[in-house]
Amino acid sequence: MYKYDEIDQAIVNERVSQYRDQTRRYLAGELSDEEFRPLRLQNGLYIQRHAPMLRIAVPYGTLSSAQLRKLGEISKRYDRGYGHFSTRQNLQLNWPKLEDVPDILAELATVEMHAIQTSGNCIRNITTDQFAGVAPDEIIDPRAVAEIMRQWSTFHPEFALLPRKFKIAVSGTKQDRAIVQAHDIGLEFYYDEQNKMAIKVWVGGGLGRTPILGSVIREHLEWQHVLTYCEAIIRVYNLHGRRDNAYKARIKILVKALGIDEFREQVEAEWAHLKDNPNTITEAELSRVATYFTEMPYESLPAHDAGFDNAIASNPAFAAWVKRSVHAHKKSGYRAVTLSLKPHGKAPGDATSEQMIAVADLADAYSFGELRVSHEQNLILTDVKLSDVYALWETARANELATPNIGLLTDIICCPGGDFCSLANAKSIPIAEAIQMQFDNLDYLHDIGELELNISGCMNACGHHHVGHIGILGVDKDGSEWYQVTIGGKQGNDASIGAVIGPSFAAEEMPGVVQKLIDVYIAERTPEERFIDTVRRIGIPPFKAHVYGKAVEKADAHV
Ligand code: HEM
Ligand code: SF4
Repeated sequence: MYKYDEIDQAIVNERVSQYRDQTRRYLAGELSDEEFRPLRLQNGLYIQRHAPMLRIAVPYGTLSSAQLRKLGEISKRYDRGYGHFSTRQNLQLNWPKLEDVPDILAELATVEMHAIQTSGNCIRNITTDQFAGVAPDEIIDPRAVAEIMRQWSTFHPEFALLPRKFKIAVSGTKQDRAIVQAHDIGLEFYYDEQNKMAIKVWVGGGLGRTPILGSVIREHLEWQHVLTYCEAIIRVYNLHGRRDNAYKARIKILVKALGIDEFREQVEAEWAHLKDNPNTITEAELSRVATYFTEMPYESLPAHDAGFDNAIASNPAFAAWVKRSVHAHKKSGYRAVTLSLKPHGKAPGDATSEQMIAVADLADAYSFGELRVSHEQNLILTDVKLSDVYALWETARANELATPNIGLLTDIICCPGGDFCSLANAKSIPIAEAIQMQFDNLDYLHDIGELELNISGCMNACGHHHVGHIGILGVDKDGSEWYQVTIGGKQGNDASIGAVIGPSFAAEEMPGVVQKLIDVYIAERTPEERFIDTVRRIGIPPFKAHVYGKAVEKADAHV
């Protein structure tokens, strides 16, 4: 993975001392709340419902074991013994003390981490596929370009005060796992007819209050120009994006207002004089950064391991876990392994300090000391030998990290919601927990099969509810908490935004509502059909009819 050079380290160290002094002045009453606000936000510190929240950047979801161990130690020492991995592959601490944050940032700097770019109207942490570099369906490993973009976007002077936050995702696989279409800019890498690396550029996607899937602004961009082309896009947005209304300030609104053709023309006009400027990436620079992402020192291994095969044959619990959590790898004899942060009845995405330290140890023992965070809020060891998988499972199970539910209904994506977030309309974590308890039977869960259920506590959509096969959105009606349900959303190449099935529900109704959706699916599905396929084939009405039944009139009363 990327290692800081002395410039990276100096920038981060300086930032820590600046922020230490800013915090001191604020606590001494020399800076007002208003003056301190942008300074803390630039360092990832939000003020939430009960306490500050610190969002720590995990660039493109990659962590070393030393970094995760440090996060475990920090969450124990300065927080309440846990952290929350977010849908943008970052880590959030929910209970740090404002006066401790400079010390936390100083500790993070010792392991090449910071909280810059995790807040504010700048280019945020760049995200990508959690299997980058090891996926068998990978066309191009996007991490070197993602790193170059990280360096370019951090402190980019022109883009520090955009109309609104700006999110970029990169993907280099046939199956998109980075949700490029739901980002302000999505970059899809491929080899063109001349066998040269090229990029398909998507723009104007986003979830939030107005969910929109991105449009293709350029089918073919030579990789050398990725920074200058993004500069052209963001410059047009910076000039013309709306600053008068925060709800209409994202680039998606501008692209929609102008139309993709007009927007493209403006970008191309801007690019005409940005193209070939010093931000054009050279072969030498790409190779220099790519040396940080060369292959791990893999052994030559056979495709099968007798011990692994025997364990599957003799241990059904292990076999069930392998089926969901162990993924194909480009190297013979290796697998990527997902550790579930979704044990039933616990807040999705939360990891205790002990779990973080245990995962760091597992990464050291079995995965070259590296791991990934997925936007589904789980942790992944990317390079595990088949012969080590059983031992890894035993330790993961002892640490409550081996719930065999990856990709299933209880692998819920969930935002912090009303328990923590001051913008929430409703709680989301208790809804996730109640649904997990409703579907606590693993055989049944496996029978239901692949299903993505996503929950957001308000229309800001941090929990990606629009692209969940089942989406749940917290809404406020006359001061009480209700939940709106969508179905048919999907991430990936054939992404879609879910459709609302009807009037909203009270919290206690939610497990039953999800149960009814599943009942329809089980009754209607053809063999091999996933929930989303059935929804796409038969449409919303059968689901709606079963969920509301005769109760529609009653439910309508609280629309
Ligand atoms: C608790 C403090 C949080 C606050 C105040 C907050 C605030 C917001 C706001 C205001 C938006 C809507 C922005 C817009 O559409 O212009 C948003 C979107 C989003 N946030 Fe959060 N958020 C928080 C936590 C999280 C967490 C924990 C995650 C990950 C689990 C997350 C990931 C996202 C994502 C993925 C989006 C929507 C996608 C998009 O940008 O279009 N946020 N957030
Ligand atoms: S979706 Fe709403 S409630 Fe949930 S974290 Fe985002 S802003 Fe907060």
